[in-house]
Amino acid sequence: MRMAKTSSTAGKTVVAVVTADPVFEQSVRATFGVSGAIELRVVEGDIGSVGQLNTEDVTVVIVDLDASRSEEMTALERMMLRSGAVPPVVVVTQSFDVEVARSLLQMRVADFLVKPVPPVELVRTCARAARASGTEATEAQIYTFFPAVGGAGVTTLAIQTALLLLNNGQRVRPTVCLVDLDFQHGACADYLDLEPRLDLKEIEPRPERLDRQLLEIMLSHHASGLEVIAAPNRPAEMRTFDPDMVTRLLDLVSSNFDYVVIDMPRTWFSWTDNVLLGSNRPFIVSEMTVPSIRQAKALVAAIRERLGDGPKPQVIVNRFEQRMFDSGLKKSDIEQALGGDFAGTIPNNYQLVREAIDRGVPLDEVKSGNNITAQLRKLMLPQSAKPAATAGIISKLGFSLAKSA
Ligand SMILES: Nc1ncnc2c1ncn2[C@@H]1O[C@H](COP(=O)(O)OP(=O)(O)OP(=O)(O)O)[C@@H](O)[C@H]1O
Ligand SMILES: [Mg+2]
Repeated sequence: MRMAKTSSTAGKTVVAVVTADPVFEQSVRATFGVSGAIELRVVEGDIGSVGQLNTEDVTVVIVDLDASRSEEMTALERMMLRSGAVPPVVVVTQSFDVEVARSLLQMRVADFLVKPVPPVELVRTCARAARASGTEATEAQIYTFFPAVGGAGVTTLAIQTALLLLNNGQRVRPTVCLVDLDFQHGACADYLDLEPRLDLKEIEPRPERLDRQLLEIMLSHHASGLEVIAAPNRPAEMRTFDPDMVTRLLDLVSSNFDYVVIDMPRTWFSWTDNVLLGSNRPFIVSEMTVPSIRQAKALVAAIRERLGDGPKPQVIVNRFEQRMFDSGLKKSDIEQALGGDFAGTIPNNYQLVREAIDRGVPLDEVKSGNNITAQLRKLMLPQSAKPAATAGIISKLGFSLAKSA
């Protein structure tokens, strides 16, 4: 597997924080500290007294500043001059003051926030700053598939998207990992005729144990070259997992692959928000019925509320049939209902999907140039090389937002 290219050490995003405020320190630790892919370096004390900060492999610096103290302003100015604003510095102050804001702008501080700072805002600001300055690590593109209703085709579309990304004709073949987060009813491994190898019992008590070596053991390898992370099903067990475990797993996967495709369950778990925040391309898979479209619309609204100005959730209507003569839903009805949230349709081709599932092979192997793959290619590939608005460290930081977001 390929480690992500990064300006920082060992594929990590390094966040350095200078603070003399224990409350802020605690909040920063809760926000960034849970992630295995983020190295948090806290320097206790104020910027005026901590001496010269080593920012060599740091992705972003957060300075908790008492702007009323001139020695702190001077120390910050000196640091900015010395570093040339690389890595970017995000300043957090106690209150808003126009004069202070002007001084910070002149110093070329990347951004500033006023306490109390909600974790999600801090993550977004750091991600923006890192992206603008180019210090972010090269991160996986993360495609996430949510069901509007059960049986809509999430697993089918997630698998086929993963295979498409793997074989999209790039000169260097990308690495792709399909992650089945439907722990209760997961079917990815089954559909691909693989042995699921993710042992949740082993990592759940101590998520920090999940390192690259353990990850390697938990991958199932498909003949196509696709790597799959899936756990054996526990249909009789309805339990939630420690969000840290899921966070850590996704952090690790996103640091090690070019593309990550996630099969999401219908239930909204405590870790769902983190997955969303880390996704570049969230999709909702709907079937072609009025209740399902309605449900998809509600999901778009819920996701948008959580993602703010992040990536836009898009609805795919699966098993689409052009109905010319009967009174059922037409494409124009769907377009009208979903407006700009509508990504497109995938045709109904039950025989093809059934055969692919039964044989555990990609659709293209059953029938090359089939209508599902062709349409999926149109929906998934045009922008696939283009990072979404919050790509980059937000995927790492996003997964790591823990429950606090
Ligand atoms: N485009 C399609 N054309 C025809 N049949 C399809 C299509 N997509 C999925 N199916 C079929 O629909 C059924 C459900 O698909 P799939 O398991 O992918 O859905 P899901 O949303 O993951 O379901 P679950 O809620 O059980 O996780 C399967 O039998 C599959 O063969
Ligand atoms: Mg499924």
